[in-house]
Amino acid sequence: MGRLDGKVAIITGAAKGLGEADARIFAREGATVIMTDVDEAAGQAIADEIGATFVKQDVRSEDGWKALIDDVVKTHGGLNVLVNNAGVVEVGTPESQTYEDYKFIMEVSADGTFLGCKYAIPAMRESGGGSIINMASIASVQGEPYVAAYCAAKGAIEALSRSVAVYCAKGKMNIRCNSIHPSGIVTPMVISMGEKVATAGLGSLEDQGEGAGTSKLGEPNDIANTVLFLASDESKFISGAQIRVDNAMSVVTGTVPE
Ligand SMILES: NC(=O)c1ccc[n+]([C@@H]2O[C@H](COP(=O)([O-])OP(=O)(O)OC[C@H]3O[C@@H](n4cnc5c(N)ncnc54)[C@H](O)[C@@H]3O)[C@@H](O)[C@H]2O)c1
Repeated sequence: MGRLDGKVAIITGAAKGLGEADARIFAREGATVIMTDVDEAAGQAIADEIGATFVKQDVRSEDGWKALIDDVVKTHGGLNVLVNNAGVVEVGTPESQTYEDYKFIMEVSADGTFLGCKYAIPAMRESGGGSIINMASIASVQGEPYVAAYCAAKGAIEALSRSVAVYCAKGKMNIRCNSIHPSGIVTPMVISMGEKVATAGLGSLEDQGEGAGTSKLGEPNDIANTVLFLASDESKFISGAQIRVDNAMSVVTGTVPE
């Protein structure tokens, strides 16, 4: 018996990195998995391999969200889990980050998560309840100097997640919402960010506090196992939480990385 048997789940940004790891674990645990991403080729290949459905989606499009949720409910009879995982990062300090990059990062991460919550809530309510899992970051807890816009976007996601949790609790909707806050996990995003930080002369990720404790960088399944727990009914009493998955990095280095 799978831990997600009978659940219909959408995972955004599922073509690689953490979203791919979520999709693989969700499929193994019995969920009906709908993977979405802008990268159609990579997403479709993984979906074919694990028996999931792939839908091309840019999370910035409101019409795209409406169509996706309508289609999932019509095809699969409801919606139980949404993982708002898609996100982007561009290196920039509060002085050097361009406004264009700031807007792009906010649109994909913060606006995309808002739209996902907005359209998932009524579908989950109709389905008898659900779990929304929003990928924030340790960047919303610590003041990371070299990814200013990313910090802002993740702060917005953290605060939105609390709002969604309280709104759904007060409405007795049986919908939970939590944010996950990873430190550095080895994915295409972190590998490319490490290169960009070094190229910009901002030091290394580890200098900036991206990793501490006994293990400096995590693996995608360190996060995917947490996502699985929040998606399953095992976490039925957890909502409105900010769950740090960072091997104590934020505790070791405090609120402002050295
Ligand atoms: N890897 C880490 O160390 C880390 C740490 C903290 C938080 N996070 C967060 O976890 C999430 C996943 O990160 P990752 O490391 O797997 O990143 P990644 O770059 O490896 O993968 C992200 C995926 O999102 C997709 N995507 C990008 N823009 C999109 C859009 N507009 N619409 C739909 N899909 C889009 C990409 O195509 C890609 O497949 C992100 O929200 C990221 O901010 C990652």
